[in-house]
This record gives sequence, C-alpha cells and structure tokens, in this order.
Amino acid sequence: MQEKTALLFRTDFEKDIFNGLTDYPKHLPSKYFYDSNGDKLFQEIMAMPEYYLTGSEFNILTNFKEQIADLCYKENKPFNLIELGAGDGKKTKILLEHLSNSNIPFKYHPIDISQNALDQLELSLKMEMPKVSVQKVQGTYFEGLKKIDTISNKKIILFLGSNIGNMEHKNAIDFLSSIRQYMNADDLLLVGFDLKKNPQTILDAYNDPTGVTAAFNKNILTRINNTLHGNFNLDTFKHWETYDPQTGTAKSYLVSTIEQVVTIEELELEITFKAWETIHTEISQKYDKHTIHWIADNAELSVETEFGDDKNYYKNYIFKKK
Ligand code: TRP
Repeated sequence: MQEKTALLFRTDFEKDIFNGLTDYPKHLPSKYFYDSNGDKLFQEIMAMPEYYLTGSEFNILTNFKEQIADLCYKENKPFNLIELGAGDGKKTKILLEHLSNSNIPFKYHPIDISQNALDQLELSLKMEMPKVSVQKVQGTYFEGLKKIDTISNKKIILFLGSNIGNMEHKNAIDFLSSIRQYMNADDLLLVGFDLKKNPQTILDAYNDPTGVTAAFNKNILTRINNTLHGNFNLDTFKHWETYDPQTGTAKSYLVSTIEQVVTIEELELEITFKAWETIHTEISQKYDKHTIHWIADNAELSVETEFGDDKNYYKNYIFKKK
C-alpha cells in the first residue's frame, strides 16, 4: 500500500478519495457526485417517472401549503424561512408563491454550497415572485445557519428532498441535534422522509432503464479522472443497487466487472480491483413512523405535525424543540 500523509493532500477531495479507495471494503463519499455534470444528471433523475421522491414532495407541498403557511405565521409575526441546500428551489417555490400571494411577511434565506445555484435561484425568483425578499447565503449548512442566527425573528428551517436519508441513523441524529442548537422555542424544522414501501418501487427509483442513474453514480469516477488524472474505465464498472426491506436501507455500489489496476496520478496511487469488487457510494434510507419518532426523540425534537402525499410514499415532518 502506498504511503501518503495527510499533509500532502491539497484538498479534502483528495484526502477523501485517497482514504476511501485505500480502505477495505472500498467506499467514496456521495457528496462528490454533485459537480456541474452531476447536478445536471441529478436534475434528470428528479424528472424521471421512476424517481417518485420529487413528485411526492411536490404533491405534499401543493396539498398542504396553507397548513404549512399557517404554522409559520401562527403568531402573525414576520419570520425567516431558511432552506438547507436550496438547489433550484423548485419545490420550495410552491410555498413561496402561496406565502407571497397571501401577503404574509417573511424573508427567504436559501443556503447552498453552490454560488451558481444561489444566483440562478435568486434571478428566477426576481422574475417569478418579485415581492419575495430573498437573502441568499453561500456556504455549508452550519456556516449559513451561523450567519442567519443573529436575526431574532422566528425561524422556519426547511430540509427537503430526503437528504436526511443519505445519513446513517447516528449521523442523522447528530445532524438534527446540531440544527436544534440554532432553534428557539417557537422555531420549526421541516424535514422530508422517504417511507418504506414496495421494495420494487424503491429499486426501480434507483435503477432506471435509461441509465441516467448509473451515469450519475459513475460521475464520481469521471470527476476523479478529470480532476486527479485518474484512468477509471467507466465501462468496467457496473451500477448496482440493493434494498433491504427490513432495515429500509438502499445502497448504491459501483462494481468492478474485471480484475484491474486503476491509476490516479495526482494521488500517486495505484488501486487494485479484484473482479466483482465493490465501491460503496451512497445510502438512501427509507423510514417508518417508529424510526422517525426514535430519531426525533434522540435529537431532542418533538413532532409538531406531519404531512403525507396521496400515495403514502413520503412524509414531511414538522419538528419543534423538545
Ligand atoms: N440523494 C439521492 C437519493 O438518495 C441521490 C441518488 C438518486 C442516488 N439516485 C441515485 C445516489 C443512484 C446514488 C445512486 O435519493
């Protein structure tokens, strides 16, 4: 095994790729899916009929925007609507439009790591909903929350898209506990959870026939090839998805179909793959009511209310500080 000390890594990306590929079994962090090519592929995934998650949450926000707005504006006081990982804001716009049309006073703070996503979101909101006051915040979730924390108004924090599902339970609890530290007694936290359902429906969502999902999963290899001078041959890796209906965990893998050696020049690294060796890339957790309450309990949050979609595929929970 090659030796490389932490000091020689120029970026977290280099360090994470090195550590993941020299570990056994091999793994790569899914946050690196999302470069500009990955963003585009994920938008294609969200538009696929098999990827029901986006449609389900869209359905919930459409059906329950009044109830959600009432909870936000219960005290008849202006509030701050903070979104963690706003992206293109497609789903949030349903709520924003309703709030704006109802002349409810609020300020929208989209937090995103991508300045480009924020600029585009701000521009589209300026044209579509000029009355909405937008104050974008570039950075990680917690950097963003720190910046907005100085404002004394009631906070409504949105964490949509079942991003929570990409965390193992312990990490989800730690994450929600950390968000809780930024909340006051009246503040609300709205989180999207994808539910356990027919295992076939879940496997289909992560295994589309047109291969967009495979391309998305493999994009991390492309990114290594492009930025670290790697020579992964994408054709020798197969996208593979598993779903365990007992634990509710879907797992994405890249499986090497042959025995091979891959070189990553920038990391001075040669990685050996046995035939059918795996790289684990992502978990997409599916939940039941009991597990969601257990997680909330452990994060010292209480369930204020919940909203489900017409198919019972997905739920948005509203939490308060316990
Ligand atoms: N965060 C998305 C999810 O878990 C990402 C995703 C969709 C994904 N399809 C995928 C990740 C396929 C890996 C492979 O739902």
